[in-house]
Amino acid sequence: MHESVLSSRRSPPYSEEDGDEGGAGDFHDESKTRKYASFAGRVPMHARAALSGPSAAVSIFLLLLFTVAYFIFCRPRPVCVSPYDPSARTVLFAATLDGLASDFGSLGVPWCRTKQGEKVEWTRKDLLKGLEEFVPIYETRPIKNNTYGMGFDHSFGLWFMARWLKPDLMIESGAFKGHSTWVLRQAMPDSRIISLSPRHPEKYLKKGPAYVDANCTYFAGKDFVDFGSVDWGSVMRKHGISDLSRVLVFFDDHQNELKSRLKQALKAGFQHLIFEDNYDTGTGDHYSLRQICDQYYIRGGGHSCFSESDETRIRMKRKRFWERAVDRDELCGSGEEWWGVRGYMRDDFNHSNKVISHEEHFQNSRFVESVLDVYWELPPVAGPSLTHQTRYDPARASGPIIEDGKFGLFQRLGLARLETSVFNGYTQMIYVQISASSS
Ligand SMILES: C[S@@+](CC[C@H](N)C(=O)[O-])C[C@H]1O[C@@H](n2cnc3c(N)ncnc32)[C@H](O)[C@@H]1O
Repeated sequence: MHESVLSSRRSPPYSEEDGDEGGAGDFHDESKTRKYASFAGRVPMHARAALSGPSAAVSIFLLLLFTVAYFIFCRPRPVCVSPYDPSARTVLFAATLDGLASDFGSLGVPWCRTKQGEKVEWTRKDLLKGLEEFVPIYETRPIKNNTYGMGFDHSFGLWFMARWLKPDLMIESGAFKGHSTWVLRQAMPDSRIISLSPRHPEKYLKKGPAYVDANCTYFAGKDFVDFGSVDWGSVMRKHGISDLSRVLVFFDDHQNELKSRLKQALKAGFQHLIFEDNYDTGTGDHYSLRQICDQYYIRGGGHSCFSESDETRIRMKRKRFWERAVDRDELCGSGEEWWGVRGYMRDDFNHSNKVISHEEHFQNSRFVESVLDVYWELPPVAGPSLTHQTRYDPARASGPIIEDGKFGLFQRLGLARLETSVFNGYTQMIYVQISASSS
């Protein structure tokens, strides 16, 4: 698996000409500003008409009430609609001049440096081909409503990578109702799976759809063992695995990715890991690799907590449009600690968290960089004018596989058939390849 995965090739930009929708975007909506100004200009006319009638007092009262309501509910926002309303954003995008694609990554996309700068072998074109194949598979999923589990973007990412890497054994930590087990099975119909989860997915069958795999060893329910407590040497022997480079480990268990999972995986000798939630700084319920590698020397890394800074201003503005955008108050602690989540290293669904110093945060990134061979973050499947996603802020994400405006391609791949809610779960899944540092 090792050799087939790595290559120094870079992904060429996808060049298919397909655009037929002019997505454009920034946040200032001039048409709305103009509308507001002309409304203000119309008020005296209404007032004059009303005041000439017999019920002048009632008219003045209603007018005042209406004016006050307008100022309370409409004026402070650039548009007088729900800030997360996708149709409102579509109007905004259409009304502005800048291309929406340029919005992606505008606040920087932190990433982890690797030992030799090796890249994954797959390209954007491979991802597009994969999408074409995966959409009809996804439509047959047994669990249609997977709230709290993976949506479309991450299901695709997991399926694509498992299928590319072709592991002999897949280990999953965090199964919930079994959707990700099902995805792994679609990618590799004959490979063995080991699934660890405190509650057995079969328990969910009593209440509705769930997936239990026939060729999977479950460490679940009364047999649950945490990934860090498993005697992996003995389990691998039992499964006839002698080459750990043939194993893929998938974590969706919301544990501190450094203290728990990365170090435990290294100790066991696993090399290929996928983390479902690579939470951005200031978000999420566990310390992620993206948070760890968010350092001043990385573009988009290190942050300003100064209330008048450009970053603060931009973040405040973006918070109005994207539910998971992070503003200064969410980013910064009382002492201006911006790393992790306001200076905390979160763990175990945020059931435990610990203050860390900036020095410790910095040392964590040095350690991570010393063991990483490959680091790759899954881009979103498509831009928000296509998916109508309302959550993640594109300013902190890399460019999507299908750019805004390419509706023809989006439709041709079958993506327009899916419910829009399945695109709302993007939290930057990553693939990493690791090996113990030589020093
Ligand atoms: C977000 S859900 C997983 C969703 C699933 N991968 C999917 O896509 O459908 C997280 C799961 O992790 C489980 N979990 C909690 N602590 C865990 C641990 N220490 N090890 C493994 N799983 C854990 C939870 O019970 C829950 O089922």
